[in-house]
Amino acid sequence: MRILTVTLGERSYPIYIGKDLLRSSEAWVRHIDATQVMIVTNETVAPLYLDAVVRQLRDKRVATVILPDGEEYKTIDSAMAVFDELLRWKFSRSAHLIALGGGVIGDLAGFAAACYQRGVPFLQIPTSLLAQVDSSVGGKTAVNHPRGKNMIGAFYQPKCVIADTATLDTLPDRELSAGLAEVIKYGLIRDPEFFDWMEEHMDALLRREPEALTYAIERSCRNKAEVVAADEREAGERATLNLGHTFGHAVETGMGYGRVLHGEAVAIGMCQAADLSRRLGWLSAADVDRIATLLKRARLPVAPPPSLSAERYLELMAVDKKNVEGQLRFILLERIGKATLPRPVDVGRLTATLEEYGRV
Ligand code: NAD
Ligand code: GLY
Repeated sequence: MRILTVTLGERSYPIYIGKDLLRSSEAWVRHIDATQVMIVTNETVAPLYLDAVVRQLRDKRVATVILPDGEEYKTIDSAMAVFDELLRWKFSRSAHLIALGGGVIGDLAGFAAACYQRGVPFLQIPTSLLAQVDSSVGGKTAVNHPRGKNMIGAFYQPKCVIADTATLDTLPDRELSAGLAEVIKYGLIRDPEFFDWMEEHMDALLRREPEALTYAIERSCRNKAEVVAADEREAGERATLNLGHTFGHAVETGMGYGRVLHGEAVAIGMCQAADLSRRLGWLSAADVDRIATLLKRARLPVAPPPSLSAERYLELMAVDKKNVEGQLRFILLERIGKATLPRPVDVGRLTATLEEYGRV
């Protein structure tokens, strides 16, 4: 098992990464300083991993909430279902929540934990690659609003993150690829050697070779932990983790939550951000091609669905947390391995990018 730390003073916490961590709780059960525990999971993950987690909590009073599966259920109504159960069980402020699942469950259970009685402790047990490399680390919790992704939420750090790499054995191929989008993101924004490494090891990652996957998870978490430790509340560098997300969130919201996976939307958005960066004279056409080639090798889409018009794109991007007083701002790339902070882009270049991708 590898242990990384997210260094945030008295709210610092470990990320445990290893195989079969759900079956051996020695490392993580000690973070549960309570008898009341609620596990929040979904209908897909519960039959696979809920029993294993419950078995480690024999001396606790364990309640479970099993939500329907999908981004379209990352809603305030689902959070309310968690609150309903917490109250029905009369769980107090010392109760602990466990998020068992992908990023949807992690974001939603974290949000519920942040709100219930003004905050109860929670643990992240991420079971998708995307959740293990990104969403479970850093304390961003949220639910979606019909008008915008993650618009209702809180910064709220978990007590620990338990990334059991064995859970990835059951992850569908399309979801594995979605996770790889966020892995590639770290290479693009701040870790050029990692980008090179992925070019060499993409086939091994797709074959799910344990050594390659574990290395990618650990290096991604290390990157994320460093960024979060430096800028927990996104006053600066943390915004670079949103490379491609302004375009990507527009795709997710515009197509209807769940149609294009979050990681797929990020892959599309990173291509568009790379194109904009080329128009500003930072990336070469060869760099843009290199980025698209790696994403394609990861079996990710590199262009948005044809049904999203430029007008709709702009309308959707107007609802973005990086915007300031109505001005759209984008994370761009100075080069592969170095992202910019959010910056405004002139309408001409933005329109040219949307047209490049068929939005006319
Ligand atoms: P997800 O939670 O929908 O999980 C993907 C799919 O895989 C789901 O069907 C899920 O049930 C299934 N699944 C999960 N683990 C499995 C396993 N081990 N075996 C079989 N099936 C499994 O999606 P995701 O890609 O994990 O996360 C995307 C979400 O994360 C989005 O809502 C996005 O906004 C959010 N996110 C948050 C942050 C953050 O910092 N908080 C960062 C990135 C993404
Ligand atoms: N995934 C964006 C962030 O954690 O800041």
